[in-house]
Amino acid sequence: MTSMTRRSFSALAAAAAWPPGVFAQDRGGALILRAIPATGERLPAVGLGTASVFDSDDARTREAAAQVVRTLLEGGGRLIDTASVYGDAERVLGQAMPAAGGRDRVFVATKLEAPDAAELERSLTRLGTRRVDLLQLHNVRDPQQSLARFKAWKAEGLCRYTGITSTSHRDYTAIEAVLAREKPDFVQIGYSLDDREAEARILPLAADMHAGVLTALPFGRGRLFRAVRGKPLPEWATGFADSWAQFFLKYLLGDERVTAVIPGTSDPGHMADNLGAMRGRLPDAAERGRMVAFVQTL
Ligand SMILES: NC(=O)c1ccc[n+]([C@@H]2O[C@H](COP(=O)([O-])OP(=O)(O)OC[C@H]3O[C@@H](n4cnc5c(N)ncnc54)[C@H](OP(=O)(O)O)[C@@H]3O)[C@@H](O)[C@H]2O)c1
Repeated sequence: MTSMTRRSFSALAAAAAWPPGVFAQDRGGALILRAIPATGERLPAVGLGTASVFDSDDARTREAAAQVVRTLLEGGGRLIDTASVYGDAERVLGQAMPAAGGRDRVFVATKLEAPDAAELERSLTRLGTRRVDLLQLHNVRDPQQSLARFKAWKAEGLCRYTGITSTSHRDYTAIEAVLAREKPDFVQIGYSLDDREAEARILPLAADMHAGVLTALPFGRGRLFRAVRGKPLPEWATGFADSWAQFFLKYLLGDERVTAVIPGTSDPGHMADNLGAMRGRLPDAAERGRMVAFVQTL
């Protein structure tokens, strides 16, 4: 909390008070929206990841999920990323969306382990929806992987966009091959201030292929917070970030090729903090270089 400014703190306080909503007016500036290359549809640049955080279908998780999703929607966000293999996350999300404002307000992205109709049917049932916005093939490892089934499901209206994902460097060769040949609408890739492999390999290709980019693991599963624990935000960063979370997320959004970041959280206060990364100015190239150098010293 040492690095939080008054404005950021009031956002957290507002989110902690139920129902949230005040913080949305509390923050200044226009929301950062990014166009999906395939259609031009504009997405709010900060979303929500659901790995680990929503994986148990119990009362406490359901309540937290409803609060986090509500905070996302009240703060101008839309995108929620989940997967068929995130425990009960799809089911928890399927209940949280109506409780928090409605399925139609959410851009739902899920992932399948294989182009398997039974797996897709199970995901749609658990999410309580007839179609998802983005259907991704999870952890692509085979460079010959076909997306024909995903494209057929898109043509049938079961999803609006197709995508592929990976956070494993050893599979980036397969991601490159499938991205270039199958031309999915999105690629979701691991990208954080201390894991920038995707910056050189995947982002340029995604731009060439007109694919949207979602960044998984934007905090390295919390690793970045542990690295700065007890440290104040550098003075030179306070012009664009109110907190460490915003520092880490705005680095990623400072690259125009990134469509949206999807930090995971089960904490509405953290959700509100993360949403602050899509307001105000983004770091410029020189500031981004300084951020990389700073993190390398940790
Ligand atoms: N291969 C793939 O396709 C793949 C792989 C991995 C992840 N993903 C996607 O990427 C999403 C993000 O990854 P992740 O959730 O594993 O890791 P992450 O977003 O890098 O980090 C999540 C961690 O950061 C903490 N956190 C979030 N906001 C915070 C804030 N403002 N202040 C302090 N701590 C904060 C969370 O704790 P709290 O709950 O306490 O906030 C959690 O421990 C996943 O949820 C998933 O949707 C995809």
